[in-house]
Amino acid sequence: MSANHQTSEHTEDHTGPVKTPKQFLLMIIFSFVVPVFAIIGLAYFVVTQFKPIAGANNEPKVVEQRIAKIGTVEVKDGNAPLATGEKVYATQCIACHGSGAAGAPKYQEKGAWSARIGKGYEALLTSALKGKGNMGAQGGGDFDDVEIGRAVVFMANANGAKFAIPDRPAPTPEAAAK
Ligand code: HEC
Repeated sequence: MSANHQTSEHTEDHTGPVKTPKQFLLMIIFSFVVPVFAIIGLAYFVVTQFKPIAGANNEPKVVEQRIAKIGTVEVKDGNAPLATGEKVYATQCIACHGSGAAGAPKYQEKGAWSARIGKGYEALLTSALKGKGNMGAQGGGDFDDVEIGRAVVFMANANGAKFAIPDRPAPTPEAAAK
């Protein structure tokens, strides 16, 4: 039986449209590859129908924001680990204190810091939190006051001060009982 397949004349015995390797290849393409792409296209078509249109984002968080009462207070997690002074500095202070922009005492410029350090940590912290001269208030933003204090200490200690790194006050008994 298999010997019949060796010459082309004999393959003509077969009925059906596939007679040459090229036709065989085309048959493979049309019977396998094309349906696969058709399915992919169909799936894509179905999926894109469910894509949210602009302004119709229904993620739970987004919905929550949309239906939130006006005037709600953002509650920060009081137990979240405090950012380091270096992190706060690199995020919020470096823009001015890195380059000395707007007349800021540069991060590593002892001469610009020594007189300021002499005023003591509390005075420097107050300046940072409330603002001073060309520096706007640094408090009330993404970092809480203790974290701003840590950035003050980070800069001051890099210029000769020996301030202790501030931490949160120990939790009150009521808070600890929760
Ligand atoms: C918009 C620029 C700017 C940014 C941002 C900025 N500062 Fe300042 N900072 C200044 C300038 C300018 C001065 C000098 C103010 C003066 O003495 O008139 C200064 C001074 C200070 C002083 C010395 C205050 C004193 O009483 O002598 C401290 C401490 C300080 N900055 C801390 C910080 C910390 C911490 C951050 C980041 C959380 C920060 N600054 C971000 C511009 C900036």
